[in-house]
Amino acid sequence: MDGHILVVGSLNMDLVVQAPRHPQVGETVLGGGFGTFPGGKGANQAVAAARLGGRVRMIGRVGADAFGRQLIDGAAAAGVEVEFIRQDPEEPTGVALITVDPRGRNTIVVAPGANGRLAPQQLEECAQAFEGLAVLVLQLETPLETVKAAARMARERGAKVVLNPAPAQPLDDELLADVDYLIPNESELALLSGRGDLASGVRVLLERGVRGLLVTLGEQGVLLAAEGGSRVIPAYKVEAVDTVAAGDAFVGAFAVGLVEGLAPEEAARLGNAAAAVSVTRRGAQPSLPTRAEVEEFLAGRREAAR
Ligand code: ATP
Ligand code: RIB
Repeated sequence: MDGHILVVGSLNMDLVVQAPRHPQVGETVLGGGFGTFPGGKGANQAVAAARLGGRVRMIGRVGADAFGRQLIDGAAAAGVEVEFIRQDPEEPTGVALITVDPRGRNTIVVAPGANGRLAPQQLEECAQAFEGLAVLVLQLETPLETVKAAARMARERGAKVVLNPAPAQPLDDELLADVDYLIPNESELALLSGRGDLASGVRVLLERGVRGLLVTLGEQGVLLAAEGGSRVIPAYKVEAVDTVAAGDAFVGAFAVGLVEGLAPEEAARLGNAAAAVSVTRRGAQPSLPTRAEVEEFLAGRREAAR
């Protein structure tokens, strides 16, 4: 496979506050530092893949406002082809309100804005973006009908389809049949499968016909699930300061691995490495490493293991 990666998904401006802990309902917590970072699961995954050397296009939608311009420029600076990102004349750019606790854990509320108006019609207008496609990458911060239409268009062109079902919502078998690799985290797996424990959640999804299932397990790594048996590919041990976009770093890197012809297990190792570097840095897109940074990180680990 030597084609490109297409991301159809969201772009958000992230408004991030450091907090001593996450507030309870009805509670006000006095926080610390504040930062504004380019984010959105779609854009993060596109930037992650481009920084790792992938040829990446994105179809998305922002507002005709300053945040929208910043997000487009930021993605372009990372090497993403941005000509298929449109500016909506009526809705503002999506925004994510994020709190990060001292252990690097986050809570996120997204106001989708223009992302909510990424309609199937825009896919038709941007059909050129699907030419020469190797891997389509999808999430669930844009309308489900658009996600389904994109998956179908990619399959019709013989491309692989990767779906990160975040934020989680119930999915029908028709969409799952168009997906080659489903990459939920544990809470997303629980919602999709209706089962609270990992093993039964995996079993339910495999029974529903999911072909490739990778469940990200935070600092434990990722579970590569298959009919014949599952195995965990461990995460790298690092000092996490901010896990925002860890999942996106993983997904973007996994897509690059697939395009490079790596087996899913090896692509997942690349994902673990990129995500490990990302959690040692603050912010979504600023935290996503280049290929050289990932190689340097891995070389350091090999050196330390001698
Ligand atoms: P987020 O929503 O915070 O972006 P997520 O819930 O989608 O993340 P996780 O399962 O938390 O996804 O993490 C994705 C991947 O990131 C993991 O599979 C692992 O490779 C890496 N990762 C996450 N947290 C850590 C950590 N503390 N140390 C090392 N690697 C981590
Ligand atoms: O996955 C992290 C992303 O989720 C953040 O960048 C935020 O914008 C939300 O979409």
